[in-house]
Amino acid sequence: MPYFSFHYSEPTRKKTVQAEFFTTLVHKMKVLVATEKPFAKVAVDGIRKVVEGAGYELALLEKYTDKQQLLDAVVDADALIIRSDIVDAAVLDAAKKLKIVVRAGAGYDNIDLEAATSHGVVAMNTPGQNSNAVAELALGLMVYAVRNLYNGTSGTELKGKKLGIHAFGNVGRNVARIAQGFGMEVYAYDAYCPDEAMVAANVKPVHSAEELYKSCDIVSLHIPATAETKNSINHDLVNLMPKGGILVNTARKEVIDEEGLIALLQERPDMKYMTDIMPVADAKFRTLFEGRYFATPKKMGAQTAEANINAGIAAAKQIVDFIQNGNERFRVNK
Ligand code: 3PG
Repeated sequence: MPYFSFHYSEPTRKKTVQAEFFTTLVHKMKVLVATEKPFAKVAVDGIRKVVEGAGYELALLEKYTDKQQLLDAVVDADALIIRSDIVDAAVLDAAKKLKIVVRAGAGYDNIDLEAATSHGVVAMNTPGQNSNAVAELALGLMVYAVRNLYNGTSGTELKGKKLGIHAFGNVGRNVARIAQGFGMEVYAYDAYCPDEAMVAANVKPVHSAEELYKSCDIVSLHIPATAETKNSINHDLVNLMPKGGILVNTARKEVIDEEGLIALLQERPDMKYMTDIMPVADAKFRTLFEGRYFATPKKMGAQTAEANINAGIAAAKQIVDFIQNGNERFRVNK
């Protein structure tokens, strides 16, 4: 007598085995969207359409205030969509079923890539999907700066000014395009981008950061936060800027040597710092440099419905394509 007939009659056993088999086959993949800073509702609707259209389940963890909430939510997630949310070894340890994490955005310095690899988790980003939004905000910060933070006094115009783009990636290219609409003269420095790509965009290539800062009235930062770039925007570099220089940061706070920049702004009352990533020393900047320092209360560059739709839906599609076809095109960990 076969062992299974201890519990079930033959027809019941067959049904049970079949049910278990199909449950395994059609196990509903769970995609968790964990966003401390939520996407616009229309983007979440779009993500849901993609995820549920693939037969998966969507779970949402928005505006969480405590890391434990994320640790609890990832426990049964097969896939994870995040923004600047931190995915470190603790999150990966808790996410026992996780196969893929997609950063809906460009910078993935918030994911511990080594830990992802060692946990067998694929990490991806969605390059270019939110770059126009960030670029528009960069230009907005420039206008705000040259118009003296809209304080009622007479300012200057962007037209005819020299703009230096520090890193000519997706955001840098959009900044160049929009700045040209303002009539700015655009320069760029990017050690990893060939001159031809800049020339094709009507941008003047320069071959060192020093040359860029020396040449430009406004410098807009678009470098990622890496071991190489952290604290690299320092006193001596920014001090090369001409009188009235304006530094605009829509990249990462980590690339700024904050104490060096504070010292420089104290020496150079002509200079301004506008940032979409609040510095650690925000209170000090605000107290010391009223009228020539501005930081958004929360990173707002990618916070548009369009960018949320583009990046969020791209993330959802990349997950479905990875799970169904093994497509790893935007993988950032190896
Ligand atoms: C990015 O790296 O894509 C931007 O910094 C946007 O980040 P956010 O999704 O946290 O707004």
